[in-house]
Amino acid sequence: MADAKTAELMEKIVSLCKRRGFIFQSSEIYGGLNGFWDYGPLGAELKRNIKEAWWRSMTQFRDDIVGLEASIIMHPKIWEASGHTSTFSDLMVDCLLTKKRFRADQIEPQSGLVYRFDGAYDGTEINPLLNQYAPEERKNVENWLHSAAVHVWRDIKTGDSDAARKALVPPEEFKQFNGPPIDQLLVLFMKACDKESHEPYSVLLPAGKPPESARKVAAQFYRERGLQSPNLLGEKTEKIENSTRYNPENGSLLTEPRPFNLMLKTYVGPVESEDNKSYLRPETAQAIFVQFKNVLEVSRQKVPFGICQIGKAFRNEINPRNFTFRSREFEQMELEFFIRPDEAIEAIYGSVATPSGPGHPGESQPNWGWQMWHQYWVEERFRFYESIGLPRTSLVEYWQKSDELAHYARATVDILYKFPFSKRDEKGELMGEELEGVAARSDFDLSQHQRYSGKSMTVFDEELKAAWPKLDDSKRSALSQRYFESRQRYLIKTGETEEKAEKQAKEESDALSKGYYVPHVIEPSAGVDRLALALICNAYGEDQAPDEKGKMETRVVMKFHPRIAPLKVAVFPLLKNKPELVKKAKEVRDLLRPHMSVFYDEAGAIGRRYRRQDEAGTPYGVTIDFETLGEKGPELQETVTLRERDSMKQERIKIAELPPRLLQTIR
Ligand code: GAP
Repeated sequence: MADAKTAELMEKIVSLCKRRGFIFQSSEIYGGLNGFWDYGPLGAELKRNIKEAWWRSMTQFRDDIVGLEASIIMHPKIWEASGHTSTFSDLMVDCLLTKKRFRADQIEPQSGLVYRFDGAYDGTEINPLLNQYAPEERKNVENWLHSAAVHVWRDIKTGDSDAARKALVPPEEFKQFNGPPIDQLLVLFMKACDKESHEPYSVLLPAGKPPESARKVAAQFYRERGLQSPNLLGEKTEKIENSTRYNPENGSLLTEPRPFNLMLKTYVGPVESEDNKSYLRPETAQAIFVQFKNVLEVSRQKVPFGICQIGKAFRNEINPRNFTFRSREFEQMELEFFIRPDEAIEAIYGSVATPSGPGHPGESQPNWGWQMWHQYWVEERFRFYESIGLPRTSLVEYWQKSDELAHYARATVDILYKFPFSKRDEKGELMGEELEGVAARSDFDLSQHQRYSGKSMTVFDEELKAAWPKLDDSKRSALSQRYFESRQRYLIKTGETEEKAEKQAKEESDALSKGYYVPHVIEPSAGVDRLALALICNAYGEDQAPDEKGKMETRVVMKFHPRIAPLKVAVFPLLKNKPELVKKAKEVRDLLRPHMSVFYDEAGAIGRRYRRQDEAGTPYGVTIDFETLGEKGPELQETVTLRERDSMKQERIKIAELPPRLLQTIR
């Protein structure tokens, strides 16, 4: 749960995002659409810079990765093969009172006193009579009426008329009560029971809350079920600890958890039929797997190599929350890096290199097994985040535990950022929330598409073919056996019969000896919007700076790394009513424009203009003044003031030196 300080910080960040045009609520003028966001002028630039930095790091700076841009809607069979149709779901629960929906795993455990009710009946007619009794007497009379009614129905059903007659005799003590005749009440009660709800219901109250609040919630629940004036039946209480069965907002019982598929459906073509049903992709990765063979053929790449993609993904999240963190429409940046199975590496190189300790393992080597590649990509991704301004101390490396891993995954490292809304550990440290997952997914994905499409996803490896006959017999049979077992395990886990699995695994291990295999994959998968939010949270700062009159005031400054800052430089003529200054400033703007995003601003006092750019996160400000024009001597002519956003330091620099100077940090 966010504390007051972090909630206040998030509020400031959200408000700045709207005020300065980073992020707006989608469809705001119609009241918004939960889980959807629009990026304003600064946000759009920021996102483009993030994607460009990622794309450049993956493709431009490497020989072994190529790009792909696939369609959002793909053949629905893809989602059967990937497992999304059957298993891409979250457990959800609904509040029985308000119908609000929650993700079951997001309900905080609660303790307190549970008030349970067997049901309720409509007291519209009977209540004025019951109210004539003293409260304690009323309770006794009501309980008796209820048990008499239950008996009568049950006994009549079982044909036991004696028992029914007995049940209708009121207790002796009722004669002492001061109220209307019991017979009259019984008739009204039986009538009221025509409108009875037998649905049990319960409410959890934290310790110390009066029972009336539970009864109020329960009465509301039965009112929703059509009882005008519900009289509650069979109230009992029970202490409970750490229960996740109740709505934390109002104490109402929740429904049993049930799976909810997160894929957004649509129809392709003019007929809305089951046959035309399709999905907006919930991840970009699958397109890479299904185009693997095409890309391999045209790109002249050989395993190990990667295919990367940036694109939109859609998930009908049960509970979008934490600003853009969990949205229903978002962008992913995914790399599928295809590697040889360890058995092939061992056959070619005699052994498989595994990590000797933590940290970046250095330049890739041909004898790396999946563990080396996995560690390499985890470290590469940390380096990327650092290169765009997220310090390592703001990130967390979280190794998924064996019970959290998908059945086909060998290891997954989540890279977390310490968002202000992250949970805190027992020492009060922010634990972080996921920015990216780096998963070693074995050969699951390509194998699944091979099975579902009937098209081979194997590659031919010359080196393996050449190495195999040179192995000694024991090595050959050990590697064959290991490969056979891993393929057999996969086939059985994914529903093949034992007999079929054995036959196919045997064929595949024979194919390995001839140089064929389905590549394994390491998948670093990141979210653009989560990263944008992390960079915004990381950049937000407040410090003290002098105003126009030299008085200190609070300055809001977005300390983006120049590489991803939405605008790189702002150009200001000192005064807007001096045509020579304006003309020169526009010349400087035009000089810089081909190299970077430039913001030209001539309105208002120069101090105010600086502040506006500080809030936008523009790392540099360039002011053109009278010195620039040479009015204070030739030595300062053609120079400008360059102001650095974070330190607010100013220096004089020649106009001609501006492009190389600024490009040093923004590239
Ligand atoms: N292909 C693997 C995959 O999609 P994931 O962990 O479900 O894995 C990868 O998603 C990344 O996509 C996450 O680390 C996160 O950055 C981003 N992401 C996932 N769901 C998101 C959501 N609802 N809103 C924003 N970003 C999301």
